[in-house]
Amino acid sequence: MIAYVEGRAIGYDDVGSGVPVLFLHGFPHNRSLWGPQLGALAAPARTISMDLRGFGESAPSAPGSVDGYADDAAALLSELGVDRAIVAGLSMGGYATFAFWRRHRERVRALVLCDTRATADNDTGQQARREMQALVQDRGSMAVANQMIAGMVGRTTREKNPELVDELHRMMSLAPTQGIVDALDALRTRPDSTPTLATIDVPTLVVVGDEDVLTPVKDARAMHLAIGGSRLEVIASAGHVSNMERPAAFNHVLSEFLFSLTAQ
Ligand code: MLT
Repeated sequence: MIAYVEGRAIGYDDVGSGVPVLFLHGFPHNRSLWGPQLGALAAPARTISMDLRGFGESAPSAPGSVDGYADDAAALLSELGVDRAIVAGLSMGGYATFAFWRRHRERVRALVLCDTRATADNDTGQQARREMQALVQDRGSMAVANQMIAGMVGRTTREKNPELVDELHRMMSLAPTQGIVDALDALRTRPDSTPTLATIDVPTLVVVGDEDVLTPVKDARAMHLAIGGSRLEVIASAGHVSNMERPAAFNHVLSEFLFSLTAQ
């Protein structure tokens, strides 16, 4: 479906009823990343996924920033008549989730931080973002997909689930060049969210695949230790896209978390 925010198209899906859960995808994905979660949780939930600006069916809007992603997410919730939601972000979607918390915390019922980290890019990381911008402008998104695919999934998925690797590679290779360029600006300029962690006072679930090499378990543990009362779940035999690699295990921990909220 398409909603309009300040005249810009935002692609989204909205499935089920119950507590609203808004899913934010990583880089360079689109909302189909959350296909295994939409309408598939044991807990009653209204599952909403959206394309971040410049990806999927969402129009680009430069300059890229995590604040822009967060503001679009808040505007989409308003369009859909949702006051407060559980915000769940994977990797870059997690960086946007921190921005959402800083800018729209009154709209957050709970947080789910998946395969992400709080820290900002260091100098080497920022240089790599610039090099990837040159790569996509020169050779297109397929070259980015080729470069990133190995780290995107865990060893187990690479060995046992080539269909999923192909599906993810296809998703990334379809990402529009402009969306990738803008997102790389957003990634490079995102602030360090470490100081934000201590301000989080809503229930928070941190999820990570034990084979995630991009945002490894130690990053998840650091967030968990800094967010009071948070819960950490490590998904076995999953890499960076743990929600796609082990959907049943991921949906189980997410549903348990949702049940724990409604029990409160
Ligand atoms: C992602 O999956 O969103 C990216 O790996 C995030 C990053 O490169 O920092």
